Amino acid sequence: MSLRVCRNVTVLEVSPVGQRKRPDEFYEIRLSLPDWDGWKPGQFVMVRPASWELDMLWARPFSISSADADGLTLFVQKVGRGTARMARLAPGDQVALWGPLGNSFAVEPDTPTLLLAGGIGIAPFRGYVERHPHPENLRLFLAHRLPLECYPYDLLSNRVDCRCLLEACPADLDLIIAALREQIAEYAAKDGLILACGPTPFMRTVQTFAAELGARAQVSLENRMACGVGACLGCVAPDAEGHHVQVCTRGPIFWADKVRL
Ligand SMILES: Cc1cc2nc3c(=O)[nH]c(=O)nc-3n(C[C@H](O)[C@H](O)[C@H](O)COP(=O)(O)OP(=O)(O)OC[C@H]3O[C@@H](n4cnc5c(N)ncnc54)[C@H](O)[C@@H]3O)c2cc1C
Ligand code: FES
Repeated sequence: MSLRVCRNVTVLEVSPVGQRKRPDEFYEIRLSLPDWDGWKPGQFVMVRPASWELDMLWARPFSISSADADGLTLFVQKVGRGTARMARLAPGDQVALWGPLGNSFAVEPDTPTLLLAGGIGIAPFRGYVERHPHPENLRLFLAHRLPLECYPYDLLSNRVDCRCLLEACPADLDLIIAALREQIAEYAAKDGLILACGPTPFMRTVQTFAAELGARAQVSLENRMACGVGACLGCVAPDAEGHHVQVCTRGPIFWADKVRL
């Protein structure tokens, strides 16, 4: 069942990730949602803590990192006012939540599938890996700027083939771009599936190589959103024909050759 109504849920836990290396910058939030069964990896939720009152009107979008009988888990990086205030939530606090929203990543159980994550873009791939019927067909590549401990990498590396590269200096970026090209070429050659999530420059690189090498690739866009349901037009992006489409309802996932980044 797909549930899109707004409902109040309770914060079960807020736990920092990579605390030793980067105190308080990344955290997981677990929310009570025992009957959440209709979501698909790649979909997102809009979240607005009750404590924001009239200070901050707009909810914030987050990928569903995983969801099971114990609740819904989001993986969040603190980048501004909203995510900073969310980090201070405590068990028992109330949050307004709507979702699951948007479309989902393609799943082709028997196809070799490459998951390309740029930083926080790893969040939806946790659920993708957990729900995939044949995880032995998956490989994850993470390009990251902060220490690996800051990301839920360990949760995935014991389930699928995982590789990562740290961007600690400008020269590392060349290595990351070369690694992306090499892997996209490998998966294009075997008619694999490529799924990417991360910041816009990362997605542009994936899109460019996918076009050049003839790879089948999907990209997940992280445009700013206000309503999450197609009503405000705050999230629009041009599709391949130049028509502006709502990322929240037509996306956030697009075939790489069907959207302009
Ligand atoms: C579909 C979708 C899924 C997402 N999933 C996750 C997730 O799983 N984990 C996570 O940590 N974040 C995710 N994001 C990004 C997250 O929504 C933003 O980081 C958050 O809304 C910022 O809120 P803020 O109030 O802290 O920042 P603000 O104070 O509003 O802005 C602070 C800074 O962050 C930038 N920013 C704000 N929103 C975005 C955005 N959407 N994308 C990129 N930069 C932004 C602003 O330009 C500004 O520089 C997702 C976004 C979308 C659209
Ligand atoms: S966020 Fe309002 S239309 Fe997409």
